[in-house]
Amino acid sequence: MVKDIDWSSLGFGYVKTDYRYVSNFKNGKWDDGALITDETVTLHESAGVLQYAQTCFEGMKAYRTVDGKVVCFRPDLNAQRMADTCERLEMAVFPKDRFIDAVEKVVKANLDFVPPYGSGASLYLRPYMFGSNAVIGVKPAEEFQFRIFATPVGPYFKGGVKPISLRVPDFDRAAPRGTGHIKAGLNYAMSLHPIVDAHNNGFNENMYLDSKTRTKVEETGGANIIFVTKDNTVVTPKSDTILPSITRRSLMYVAEHYLGLKAEEREVSYTEVKEFKECALCGTAAVLSPVGRVVNGNEEIVFGMDAMGEITKKLYDTLTGIQMGRIEAPEGWIKVIS
Ligand code: PLP
Ligand code: COI
Repeated sequence: MVKDIDWSSLGFGYVKTDYRYVSNFKNGKWDDGALITDETVTLHESAGVLQYAQTCFEGMKAYRTVDGKVVCFRPDLNAQRMADTCERLEMAVFPKDRFIDAVEKVVKANLDFVPPYGSGASLYLRPYMFGSNAVIGVKPAEEFQFRIFATPVGPYFKGGVKPISLRVPDFDRAAPRGTGHIKAGLNYAMSLHPIVDAHNNGFNENMYLDSKTRTKVEETGGANIIFVTKDNTVVTPKSDTILPSITRRSLMYVAEHYLGLKAEEREVSYTEVKEFKECALCGTAAVLSPVGRVVNGNEEIVFGMDAMGEITKKLYDTLTGIQMGRIEAPEGWIKVIS
C-alpha cells in the first residue's frame, strides 16, 4: 500500500525507505548483491573512502506515470557515467547490466514509496560506491562497496518553478579544475563552502566559470545550465570539465526533435549571458529550474523573476511529459519497472 506521506509538501531531503541494495567487491570480483533493511554502514577506520575520499555517486529518479506504471528514465546512461567515474577514480566498475538490475530491485522493493502521479514528487535513487578496505599510503582501495538507496523527494529548489538567483562566485569549484565530468565525493566537498556562502548571500546556487580562464560559463554546484537566445536557439555550454548531465542531453534532443528548435552545445562566454532571453538549470534533482537573475560582483543580469520563460516551459512540459508517460518517449528512454 502506498505510504501515508504528504507527497506534495516533500522537499529534497532524506526519507528512510524499506530496502537498499548492497554488493561488495573483494578478491577481484563482485558478490551476488542483496537487498537489506539496515540503512547504516560500518566501516574500517582506515577505509579508502575515509582517508582519500575514494567515493562516487549517481542520481536518478523513478516516476509514477499517468497510466499507473513505475518507470525509470535512461538508467543505462547513469550506469555508463558511473562506470566512467569509477575508471577515473581507480575503483572497480559495477557492471552496467547489474547496475540496471539493482535499480530495478530497489525500486520494486520500495514501490510503496514511489509518489503518486501528479503529486510533483518522485523516488530519488542514489547509487554510490566507496573504497572499503584499509589503505594508509596514497593508493586506491582494493575492496569496494556498491549501494543504492531510495528516498522520495519533492522539488530541489524551494518554491517549485519560481525563478531562482545565481551568483558568479570568487571560488573555483574543486581542485584541480571544475567538477570534471565525474560525480565524485571529493569534488562535491570542495563545493560545499561556496554553496553555503551563496546561500548566506541570498542566492540559490553558484554559476561557476571555467577555472583556467574564468571567462566561460560552466555549470552550477548541482546542475548544468541551458540558455535560450532571442531567436529561440537552445544553447548549453560545451566543456569537458562539467558533468555530462543526462537531463541536458535529453533536453537538447527534445529541443531539436520534439520542438523543432535549433540546439547548440558550444562554448559560452560569460559576456554573452546578458544577450540570452532565458536561462535555466537542468538535472535530475533540478529538473528544469528557471533562473531569474545572475549576479557577478556589481553587475546584475535579470531574466525575469515572475515565471518560467516560454521556451523553458515547453522544454519542461515535454521532458516531464515523456518521463510521466504523457508524451511518447524516444526508443530506449523509459525503463518500465512495474
Ligand atoms: N551537474 C552536477 C554538478 C550535478 O550534480 C548534476 C546532478 O546530477 C548535474 C549536473 C545534472 O546531471 P543529470 O541530469 O545527469 O542528473
Ligand atoms: C542529481 O541531480 O541527481 C544530483 O546529483 C544533484 C545534487 C543533488 C547533487
